[in-house]
Amino acid sequence: MSDAYYEKALIRAAEYRKKPAPLILGIESSCDETAAAVVRAGREVVSASVHTQIPIHRLYGGVVPEIASRSHTERITGVVRDALEKAGVTLADIDAVAVTYRPGLIGALLVGVSYAKGLAFAAEKPFIGVDHITGHIAANYITYPELTPPFMCIVASGGHSHIVKVKGYTEFELIGRTRDDAAGEAFDKVARAMGLPYPGGPELEKLAKGGDPDAFRLHTAFNEGEGFDFSFSGLKTAVVNILHNAGQKGEEINKADLAASFQRAVTDALTIKSVRAAREAGLTTLALAGGVSANTALRERLQRECDKYGVRFCRPDMKYCTDNAAMIACQGHYEIMSREPDELSLDPNAASFLQMQQ
Ligand code: KG4
Ligand code: ZN
Repeated sequence: MSDAYYEKALIRAAEYRKKPAPLILGIESSCDETAAAVVRAGREVVSASVHTQIPIHRLYGGVVPEIASRSHTERITGVVRDALEKAGVTLADIDAVAVTYRPGLIGALLVGVSYAKGLAFAAEKPFIGVDHITGHIAANYITYPELTPPFMCIVASGGHSHIVKVKGYTEFELIGRTRDDAAGEAFDKVARAMGLPYPGGPELEKLAKGGDPDAFRLHTAFNEGEGFDFSFSGLKTAVVNILHNAGQKGEEINKADLAASFQRAVTDALTIKSVRAAREAGLTTLALAGGVSANTALRERLQRECDKYGVRFCRPDMKYCTDNAAMIACQGHYEIMSREPDELSLDPNAASFLQMQQ
């Protein structure tokens, strides 16, 4: 049964590549956002729909995987329908279906992947699995229509902190990575220790706005030296210890100063290593990707460092920084342009293929 489907999918994929303005439906459900988007010719976002579960998980101080899967199941039909309606199209008008199949919470991924498979099978459309990290990188193509590989990319999200050499649209080389916590994870954990709600990154950024980044002497490990790896766990522990010691002594601590000092240590590490990686590779463009790319202090710090060395700096529009489906559709387009579609036996995977390169 599935073979007849796949033969049709191959024909439709060949047709996709020939069309001047093919439409691709993207679906994202890897963590706590249920999202769908319709993208034309790889870079033009025709419609986007997102249901965020943040208010639900905020009650627990972090993402509860079982609740996330359940909410995706409840919402996915409505979110996909909304994206199609906003685009003024039906499933029949869509030329391919792309979905995040790795990395992420396995139960959450399963919802999107199963749904996308069902749509692709029923409508006889090519089905394409996309790695979420490559999707984050592709968010830059939406903001910069003329951006083409090669370029260096610093990916900083809740689960990953990678320096990636983007050699082609579907060709990536891992240059550096975190040895422990991801940058976003460190933001979330430090914010939680300060009593801020989930997700901590944006809350900590707000708090840091009124603070003095020189107030506390904080830094990350591996700052010096030749390598491109990061470590954020020691920094997180240092902040938690400062809070703890002050609490034990009954001392008042200026949390805005502490937030600003922490934020500067993270943004310094991400900036210095990624700009150096671009320069040493002889690349003239550095892009930023992942949820932490919404951090204004990081965007400004990277812009300044890039200006210093004559490197072009790219970062996604705010709405495409955190999880969304337009970026998945965008990367899905480039996948289908360069390889055959996936079979419906494709399984979701909790790990990124970039983690496999380590
Ligand atoms: O990419 P994303 O939406 O989900 C994952 O793929 O992980 O990233 C979410 C992460 C969270 O850790 C969140 O706290 C962080 O990105 N984040 C921020 C900001 N906005 C989101 N971190 C620092 N400053 C922000 N403004
Ligand atoms: Zn993400």
